[in-house]
Amino acid sequence: MKVLGISAHYHDSAAALLVDGVPVAAVQEERLSRHKNDAAFPASAIEWCLNDAGIEAADLDAVVFYERSMLKFERILTCALRAFPRSWRSFPHAMKNALAEKVWVRGVISSHLEVPRDKILFARHHESHAAAAFLAAPTKRAAILTADGVGEWATLTVGHGERRPDGRTDITLLREIRFPHSLGMLYSTFTAYLGFAVNEDEYKVMGLAAYGRPTMTELVRQVIRPAPDGAFALVPEYFEYQTTASRSYSSRFVELFGQPRNPYDPIDLDTTEGRRFADCAASVQRVLEDTLVEIARALHRETGLADLCFGGGVALNGVANARVLAESGFERLFVPSAPGDAGCALGAALYADRIYLGNPDRDVPDHPFWGPVVNTADLARAAREDDQDVTELEDGPMIERIADELARDHVVGWMDGATEFGPRALGHRSILAAPHSADMRDRLNRDIKYREEFRPFAPVVPIEAADRYFDLPAGGARLARFMSGVFPVRPEWRARLAAVTHVDGSARVQVLEREMAPRLHALLEAYGRRTGIPVLLNTSFNLSGEPIVTRALEGYSSFRRCGIDVLAAGPIVVSKRAASPGRPLKESATWGSERLVGSGAV
Ligand SMILES: [Fe+2]
Repeated sequence: MKVLGISAHYHDSAAALLVDGVPVAAVQEERLSRHKNDAAFPASAIEWCLNDAGIEAADLDAVVFYERSMLKFERILTCALRAFPRSWRSFPHAMKNALAEKVWVRGVISSHLEVPRDKILFARHHESHAAAAFLAAPTKRAAILTADGVGEWATLTVGHGERRPDGRTDITLLREIRFPHSLGMLYSTFTAYLGFAVNEDEYKVMGLAAYGRPTMTELVRQVIRPAPDGAFALVPEYFEYQTTASRSYSSRFVELFGQPRNPYDPIDLDTTEGRRFADCAASVQRVLEDTLVEIARALHRETGLADLCFGGGVALNGVANARVLAESGFERLFVPSAPGDAGCALGAALYADRIYLGNPDRDVPDHPFWGPVVNTADLARAAREDDQDVTELEDGPMIERIADELARDHVVGWMDGATEFGPRALGHRSILAAPHSADMRDRLNRDIKYREEFRPFAPVVPIEAADRYFDLPAGGARLARFMSGVFPVRPEWRARLAAVTHVDGSARVQVLEREMAPRLHALLEAYGRRTGIPVLLNTSFNLSGEPIVTRALEGYSSFRRCGIDVLAAGPIVVSKRAASPGRPLKESATWGSERLVGSGAV
């Protein structure tokens, strides 16, 4: 049976294809269209999924949309009417948006794919999040928590799931919190207030929070109040997102927190104003964490289960996730590689397959690599035509060569196999570099990623060595499989992992098991043999404002436009000639392996 899942029309569209209950292909539209956070109907993603599986749209047994568009329309309409006359300016905008494509999704899908309308199904938005979190996790019974900005009405749900021995699947969402009360919208409101882009830059708030102190939590608690049933409620006077699309916080919010940051002003942490913004970020971060921990704790008490599966955009907050794992009572916390709305394409397909169509339970492979495979021949051809140094190596010598480059402080663009599904590079489309010095962090920010200096880079470490460098609680390595938790770097290693240690001593580490990405695992070991520390800096392979690279030529184009020294894909290694644009090759290593080995690092 072939089931296609689609998410679209909000942000980060995607498609995912199941064949006989198991994912065979999934990709975000932005990775193909090259428009970051592309929200359009994912025609390219669908086409790629079908082509990759060698099937036609006519072969599909079902096409599943990731939310019930009429319910969402009802919410938009109801909120606009409730808020009238304050909403009169935004009303035409909301209606135009809702009516253009979103409500008539069945017709849009039917005309794009030429599938009969009765094959088109709809999962609820949070059912899609729940299924993406629970059915892709290696657990048979788990509590389920979802939290995001908003879907149809729900913004947070709690429940549980079971994959039963008889092959049937149950997903029960017990309770929900409804719009406009929303943790995602709370965080997005502060994202806007702090001068960042909503739905895109929430992680900058988390990064900035580490520079501040949570001195304003009492103020934040004036805008989000605990509800008697253990839930929460936002105080509507402080928010405007429920009435207008152009502004998320009200003048009362500004009276409470002070003037918002101008997005064009840099954040200077040496000024009172800069520290106020950092403290504000730290405060909303703390309140978000406390709220999630309380909800998860209550869910643990209620269900008595050992595992928690957490989905929705809020599950991208790795600092909060680490606290939920440590403090909620659950032994294991599973966050999928794509917990946000793109992942709902896979979630909707899984939900429909198991629940609507009643197909038998199947294990979903525990990795994120469901997208297009890099074509290494394309890379070799382009680089040769461009007169670059191209070397083709067997796997072993290739790994050794790249480890040499990294040990010489060269920055490597690393493309390997199929792209990741989700926002994070987990070893197949990564920029890799030595993790040791703050100079490397600054160089990557300046020459390659062109981004704010307060944003940390992430490390990747083999699971065998993870505890040596990072203070992982029980269950921490699992949460770090898809880079979903932020954990302390052990104090004795912070100076030697300066490029990947955040200002508060933490890191959003990826803990890598060999079978998930064997070549990167081998590279980490080879790098460790040279430097004594099998840890690399791993950041997504994209330039600022662009989606992560997918195809060989996109990787090559990025390599030519920035300070990456070496590009590796499969057996192909491309070295930048000294005369090329970008940073000139540096022949002398700045980190002698003797120094690390000699200091007792091995
Ligand atoms: Fe969502």
